[in-house]
Amino acid sequence: MESEYRTGKVLISEREIYDRVGALAATIASGTRSKELLAVGILNGAVIFLSDLVRRMPPELDVRIDFMSISSYGNAVQSSGVVRIMKDLGSDIEGKDVLVVEDIIDTGLTLSYLLKILQARRPANLRTCVLLDKSEKREVSVPIDYCGFTIPDAFVVGYGLDCGGRWRHLPDIRAVTGGA
Ligand code: IMP
Repeated sequence: MESEYRTGKVLISEREIYDRVGALAATIASGTRSKELLAVGILNGAVIFLSDLVRRMPPELDVRIDFMSISSYGNAVQSSGVVRIMKDLGSDIEGKDVLVVEDIIDTGLTLSYLLKILQARRPANLRTCVLLDKSEKREVSVPIDYCGFTIPDAFVVGYGLDCGGRWRHLPDIRAVTGGA
């Protein structure tokens, strides 16, 4: 049966995202003391955010990018608590200045798991940047160094975020309504 989910009203506009991403990029760049910054995007949700974020960073900063994929959600809208690495980084991060870029933090289980794995690889510095924070839903405490927007507990899509694979291409963030 076709999903009954629909996109609802725009919670965060394209303009608001553009402005906030620019501000985040400037703050991150000014807080970066190392010569090289490795931005690690978590697939698939952070692809669009990471792409925009790094392009707003100053050209003199040596920014590298890499990606990891961790499963935490299937097509459902609830955290399973089960996380595993589907795709690992392409290079060693020991001694590097690493910025983990994630689309959204909800329970915190995904990021908390990921940070443990990355910390064990002994980076010189490990920071986190999330576009959206659903702080009401947190189950485990996770250090967030940079956050785009704090949002209420609603399932959202757009700007990289999906619902069952749909709506990642939307330029803004919208709530999802309905359900089968
Ligand atoms: P957590 O482990 O509960 O913090 O969930 C983090 C992951 O769940 C994110 O990387 C997203 O893939 C997914 N997620 C959580 N909330 C939403 C949402 O509102 N829309 C789309 N994906 C979400």
